Amino acid sequence: MRYDESIIEQVREANDIVSVVGQYVKLEKKGANYFGLCPFHNEKTGSFSVNPKLQIYYCFGCNKGGNVISFIMEYENASFPEALKILADRAHISLPAADTYEDPAEKKKRERMLAIYKDAAYFYHDSLYTPDGSQGLKYLMEKRRLSKATITHFGLGYSGKFSDGIYQYLKHAKGYSDNDLKESGLISFSEKGPKCMFWNRVMFPIMDLNNRVIGFGGRVMGDGEPKYLNSHESLIFNKSNVLYGLNFAKKSREKFLLLCEGYMDVISLHQAGFTNAVASLGTAFTDSHARLLKRYTDTVILTQDSDAAGVRARMRSFPILHGAGLKVKVLDMGPYKDPDEFIKANGPDAYRECIDKARNAFLYNMDMLKQEYDLTDPAKVTDLYRRIARELTVFTDKIERDNYVKAVSREQNIDYDSLHELTEREILNSQGMSRTVMPMQPAAPAPKESESERRKTSGRAGRSEDILLYWMSERKEVIPGICAYLKPEDFSTPLKRKIAQQLMTSSDFCAAAFLDREDLNEEEQSEAGRIFAGTPVTTDDDDLYKILTEAVRNILKEIYDGILHERNVSAEKFQETLLKKSGLQNIRITQ
Ligand code: GTP
Ligand code: MN
Repeated sequence: MRYDESIIEQVREANDIVSVVGQYVKLEKKGANYFGLCPFHNEKTGSFSVNPKLQIYYCFGCNKGGNVISFIMEYENASFPEALKILADRAHISLPAADTYEDPAEKKKRERMLAIYKDAAYFYHDSLYTPDGSQGLKYLMEKRRLSKATITHFGLGYSGKFSDGIYQYLKHAKGYSDNDLKESGLISFSEKGPKCMFWNRVMFPIMDLNNRVIGFGGRVMGDGEPKYLNSHESLIFNKSNVLYGLNFAKKSREKFLLLCEGYMDVISLHQAGFTNAVASLGTAFTDSHARLLKRYTDTVILTQDSDAAGVRARMRSFPILHGAGLKVKVLDMGPYKDPDEFIKANGPDAYRECIDKARNAFLYNMDMLKQEYDLTDPAKVTDLYRRIARELTVFTDKIERDNYVKAVSREQNIDYDSLHELTEREILNSQGMSRTVMPMQPAAPAPKESESERRKTSGRAGRSEDILLYWMSERKEVIPGICAYLKPEDFSTPLKRKIAQQLMTSSDFCAAAFLDREDLNEEEQSEAGRIFAGTPVTTDDDDLYKILTEAVRNILKEIYDGILHERNVSAEKFQETLLKKSGLQNIRITQ
């Protein structure tokens, strides 16, 4: 869906950010800005700021930032069109029909599928309270110890044993055609007539982020094969994009999400108060899963089964999660098979203690790895070291990698220098060569931006860039002075170049509008929010121009130093740059 820029702008301008945020957060005016307790992370002192002039918000604690639309998206977990609708309604603006990219026939089909799944979910759920379904209810309540409230919350159900009830219901009471039902995958047809996919199973509806049912898992009651039957992928159901329980977990205000393996684990954990638990649907964990998690948290605690398959799952998911920028920890459940069994045996408090003790996942994995090697055999010891070195290449950042080399060598009693050398050799090997994919570790995630896109900056020049961008957005009159020395390309990241480009070339820059640009990813949005929120350190004009001058000098100095250190810089260029560098002190930005 796509709306016209002008209508987005109209909606944004009709909704003052202070009054919108004020509906959710108690705000207090301090200076030019408003402050309150951040709704996106737990805190006791207010780090959440709202800037009425720029119409943006930013949290100095969790670094979330954006404009009024992104606030609603974040707070209500809404999509862009949904947030726009909420704000348009609030301001009594009627939205024109959005252009849809979706083929209308496709859209209709999708809507019909969703309707079928919703109706089916209600049918299965209601069946629990019929005579035929009473054994399903008994299984859930007695065997799995779920409360009625939990059963209702997750919409659990039962698929009948004796009849094609679901078919009769969908066809006759709801009026779907045989063709629709066939397409849904819930019913198949043969000469013998309609056949229901699920039969005599307790049913777990799988919901998307908007609580719409998109598939089912069905479990046999007791032993039997297959234990779980899952809906096939369809127009509305793609396993690698779904995490069971995330529709609820996304609303939990915990700082981390718990990643487990099974439907029952998620349900048990939620029932025990851990409403931040999710699971992938018995499929391999994918990059899309990781990105999905990253939308809601920075930290994932792995609480997968403690059997061999669970350990492998943990090992495999680490590089994927780390690659998505998540911190990963592992929770040790001791001898218990899975969170469901742990909670049943020990209760929620004991589980909470395990959470508090959760360990760094990489270091944990190295412990596990070590157990696979017979360390009385020197050849095996060498193999282990190589293997660890190879695992360490997942850390593409040199400093981070070295910190892990230190930690692993300390914990596993490996000589630091040897491990360091082995690891760096592995890194060199992996560069340029197509990496052979190792069983436990997918190829290292590609760096997010290529070297040419992002210039390395020292903290100082980066900070100087932030200062310039902030003041250019806050005080237009400083822009010409800065333009005399810097071009947008002189900024070090693609995002900063975009901001600078817009500030330096358009006369009516609007920070809130900038945040809506489609070419910004979520990280860039927050980063832009951080830059615009700034930390105004001065109100005195003389000071301001001194600060700007200093910032311009820092940035240019770094650029010049970069050129001077280039290996194949020409003599001419070298001379010229040297001259420019010595002239830096003459730069002065004035009113
Ligand atoms: P319970 O035995 O009911 O506690 O199951 P669980 O939730 O602990 O699941 P388990 O750890 O056995 O398996 C984890 C997940 O893998 C399940 O939730 C399912 O999504 C999936 N799964 C398990 N068994 C099967 C199966 O036989 N077929 C398919 N397709 N998926 C399965
Ligand atoms: Mn289980």
